[in-house]
Amino acid sequence: MSDPGHWDRAYARSAEALSWFEADPVRSLALLDRAGLRPGQAVVDVGGGASLLVDALLARGLGPVTVLDLSPVALATSQSRLGPLAERVDWIAGDVTAWRPEPGGYALWHDRAVFHFLTTAAGQAAYAAVLHRALAPGGAAVVATFAPDGPERCSGLPVQRWSSEDLAQALGLRLDHAERFVHVTPSGNEQRFQMALMRKEGEDG
Ligand SMILES: C[S@@+](CC[C@H](N)C(=O)[O-])C[C@H]1O[C@@H](n2cnc3c(N)ncnc32)[C@H](O)[C@@H]1O
Repeated sequence: MSDPGHWDRAYARSAEALSWFEADPVRSLALLDRAGLRPGQAVVDVGGGASLLVDALLARGLGPVTVLDLSPVALATSQSRLGPLAERVDWIAGDVTAWRPEPGGYALWHDRAVFHFLTTAAGQAAYAAVLHRALAPGGAAVVATFAPDGPERCSGLPVQRWSSEDLAQALGLRLDHAERFVHVTPSGNEQRFQMALMRKEGEDG
């Protein structure tokens, strides 16, 4: 899953045709709101791909915003869509598990359909370590994965499916809120997801 070529080839298609495309990141925004995201707080969308979440965050005056993704093609898609607004975003092409963010530099961490590609304990632990380094004490993470009754593969790759409770435990975070939802892909397939709002213990938590 950490082969940028796999993802670059996927994003060579129209972003709207990808199985994970969503026209309005309404659920992510609702949980970021619930987490208390305010203008001036740094937020990172890991594995953000060509998601429209960054557009919505900028439109609401939120940020600073960082979008990290393995696929330079995905990031270029978002940059070209945003035009001059793209200059307001910190774009990072790379593997989230190898990222070395400024310690405590982020109030919010967002991940939609990325962590579930990490199917080894070592990969999951590396992700959790980066998340804990990035988040300030009391910071929040909103993470969506396929649910236990969701698909076994995503983008042709095997995934690990999670309940919100097990996810929070694996990431070493406190579970504040959990939701389940069904994503309907552009070709009409239903995918069952969980989305968890979790908090890192600390002064604000
Ligand atoms: C299913 S897509 C979801 C994209 C986006 N979050 C969305 O909701 O539209 C998974 C994304 O994770 C990225 N990705 C996969 N493995 C990654 C890794 N190890 N580090 C960073 N990004 C990764 C892919 O390039 C792809 O953009």
